[in-house]
Amino acid sequence: MSSKNTLTTANGAPIADNQNSRTAGARGPVLLDDYQLVEKLAHFNRENIPERRVHAKGSAAYGTFTVTNDITKYSYASVFAHIGKQTPMLIRFSTVGGERGSSDTARDPRGFAVKFYTDQGNWDIVGNNTPVFFIRDALKFPDFIHTQKRDPKTNLKSPQMMWDFWSLSPESLHQVTILFSDRGIPDGYRHMHGYGSHTYSVINADGQRFWVKWHFRTEQGIKNIHPDQAAKLDGGNPDSAQEDLFNAIKTGNFPKWRLFMQVMTEEQANQHAENPFDVTKVWSQKTFPLIEVGVVELNRNPENYFSEVEQAAFAPSNVVPGVGLSPDKMLQGRVFAYADAQRYRIGTNYQQLPVNAPKCPYHNYQRDGAMRFTSEGAPNYEPNSIESAPKQQPQYAEPALHFGDVTADRHNHRVDEDYYSQPRALFNLMKDDQKQLLIDNITASMKTVSKDVQIRQLKHFYRVAAPYGEGIAKALGIDVNLIKS
Ligand code: HEM
Repeated sequence: MSSKNTLTTANGAPIADNQNSRTAGARGPVLLDDYQLVEKLAHFNRENIPERRVHAKGSAAYGTFTVTNDITKYSYASVFAHIGKQTPMLIRFSTVGGERGSSDTARDPRGFAVKFYTDQGNWDIVGNNTPVFFIRDALKFPDFIHTQKRDPKTNLKSPQMMWDFWSLSPESLHQVTILFSDRGIPDGYRHMHGYGSHTYSVINADGQRFWVKWHFRTEQGIKNIHPDQAAKLDGGNPDSAQEDLFNAIKTGNFPKWRLFMQVMTEEQANQHAENPFDVTKVWSQKTFPLIEVGVVELNRNPENYFSEVEQAAFAPSNVVPGVGLSPDKMLQGRVFAYADAQRYRIGTNYQQLPVNAPKCPYHNYQRDGAMRFTSEGAPNYEPNSIESAPKQQPQYAEPALHFGDVTADRHNHRVDEDYYSQPRALFNLMKDDQKQLLIDNITASMKTVSKDVQIRQLKHFYRVAAPYGEGIAKALGIDVNLIKS
């Protein structure tokens, strides 16, 4: 039997020689049946996946979130259940415009993507180290990012493109001013704040919604790098932030951030002079003071960068009961964009990978797809009549959101529905032999179906037309009285 340090092929067979290809004679050509060589070269060719379209260069670490203040009057999210409650988490920091190997000291916002593995599912805050953003409509995002990437002809970064776009998009001024301030090049990832930036929502146990902005404030103090020093670091060590974070955690110097929230009631939002859902604007901390929530500590480096950082998938669509989204129109674009990017970048079943999978039990009716490795069986549809199958949980419904006369909600499409008169008109149009054929066809299809389902369906047919239901019931050997309610 293979021991722990037996080198094997991917199918588990011990490898006798990992130094010499199989050749025809000592100086002869390589043989195609050298499956070890083929496997090694073929796997190597497939070791990369598309890098993130933005935020390609990044560093991540695991940690713990601990609640330090009771905010249950604002949110019933289980992550905030009581002071002292701890939740495992992952944070990935990044630059925005550069490629996977680009410099950690670029003048660029820093991504601050947080995943809480809560006991009611994963909750992500995918924010930046700035409280605002350059644009406020998702429609502008691809154009904006094109200006931050390389010119398609010269393959060079282009200040002309950037300033052309910014000068035509003055809503960018707030973020541009931060970007070109001393905070534009943070000294590594430990010495900067993080922000959810958008307005999000929280919901309490009484179904009351509050608008919130999330702030992660560094306990290490703010430290930035002067452009001259950045240029030096850039040449000598483009991975300075990765190195700093990894080594701090490796040596037990665990970085910490304190999580705060600003809260705005729905009434305050209605009276707010500015649009409270505009991501180019902050909320005054005098009017909406920071309320402490908890503390984040990063204390464990990933074992494998590719599996746990490159394949990590953060998305604003990852919300859990008690926390939610907002009418911010750019946020809606992001709610679509991230999971879409991840299905392409990692694969359909990316949420099954250990770094992305919830740490709580999860059950859904998704099945199959490339690289599905869990083996849930039947049923794979809902609604169904199977008691033990996963069921929707209406107690977690979000309160409706009102926009004047219009309400955003999961409106019940079954209210006042007439299912029967049109099929009845059709049935009545049929000649006798057509009716009989219909009854025969349905009988043939339903004869192996369980009796409870037969009766439920026959009641519908009976409501369409008595002869319709009765005809099938008789053919299936079911007492006609059972279908008359
Ligand atoms: C990454 C789209 C605005 C923060 C990404 C990715 C996409 C994307 C497609 C790559 C996701 C992946 O492949 O895993 C967009 C769109 C935006 C937008 C369409 C506007 C409509 C923002 C804003 C912020 C932000 C306003 C911050 C407040 C981030 C961060 C990441 C990221 C931190 C990296 C996440 C990670 O570490 O994996 N964005 N983004 N983005 N975005 Fe955005």
